[in-house]
Amino acid sequence: MSFLRVSRLVTIERHIAEEQEFHPSATGEYSRLLRDLTLALRIIARDVRRAGLNDVLGITDSMNVHGETVKKLDEFANEVIFRAMDHGGHLCVMASEESEGIIKIPDEYAKGKYVLLFDPLDGSSNIDVNTTIGTIFSIYRRLDPQSTEDGDERDVLQPGYKQVAAGYACYGSATTLVYTSGHGVDVFTYDQTIGDFLLTHEKVRMPKQGKIYSVNEGNYALWSDGMKRYVDHLKKQEQGKPYSLRYIGTAVADIHRTLHYGGIFMYPADSKYPNGKLRLLYELNPLAMIIEQAGGRATDGMNRILDIIPTDIHQRAQAFMGSELDVLEAELFVNGHDS
Ligand code: AHG
Ligand code: MN
Ligand code: MN
Repeated sequence: MSFLRVSRLVTIERHIAEEQEFHPSATGEYSRLLRDLTLALRIIARDVRRAGLNDVLGITDSMNVHGETVKKLDEFANEVIFRAMDHGGHLCVMASEESEGIIKIPDEYAKGKYVLLFDPLDGSSNIDVNTTIGTIFSIYRRLDPQSTEDGDERDVLQPGYKQVAAGYACYGSATTLVYTSGHGVDVFTYDQTIGDFLLTHEKVRMPKQGKIYSVNEGNYALWSDGMKRYVDHLKKQEQGKPYSLRYIGTAVADIHRTLHYGGIFMYPADSKYPNGKLRLLYELNPLAMIIEQAGGRATDGMNRILDIIPTDIHQRAQAFMGSELDVLEAELFVNGHDS
């Protein structure tokens, strides 16, 4: 049996060009933005593939803005995306997990109508052990479409429902690019021999309910009672349960599995991270858009993630994402409505 879901041979560039045909007013700026971004992803994929072979492995002395040790590959990926995107004339401002404030487009280059937010390397604790890592991106229109000036923090602090497109690259046993522009979710797989992403799964729909939960259960003692009860419930021996536990510790990889197999991925509040650990703008919003576009549900336990109004570039939020029925059930427990 083949898992290939597509019979047409379509590259990511062709796919984006086809989508643009639905928008007669499109100027091609967006297609060029995506072309530059996929170039950056191909370069990062190449370096992830050879990470064990050269000196990019190892820890640098520097810390990122969250006080975490940054691996060299994080810095490299951050720089590759910046250098691929700063001069195309399609962006007015960027923001990244690895940069404290907004990232300005250099003075010498034209400013465009889009905004790019990204987590250059997600799952950095997995780099040194040859385990799946990823890159997450989120694209918005700037607030003032007429402006040709620099964008500012207001352009970056937009709620997730305004995303024009979102996606991630997942550097696993294959490199895949998962992409949505609000018309469903398409998956492209990288063929290194031709240097291109080919469409392999069109309009992915996730199961209404799954059999897998994904959470750092080592934090159990730090969770709320509702959260503890939910996970206890998933482990009971009754109809359809116990669920299996899978946790890679790379949000991209855990979401990628959840997208295909269903179930639930969580990063709840705990006594160490009262708002959860994951970052709203460049981790949760793009992942939430993908999950919703595939028919799933993505909330902070109470509210739709995409409706949260951001106030800080690096703010965190709780994450409950995956199959609709699983996320609804988790919400009952974490809000104390399970009895
Ligand atoms: P990053 O490598 O970009 O800092 O993100 C790591 C995140 C996310 O990918 C993952 O889901 C989570 O951290 C894992 O956290 P724990 O180690 O606390 O489980
Ligand atoms: Mn991350
Ligand atoms: Mn990261």
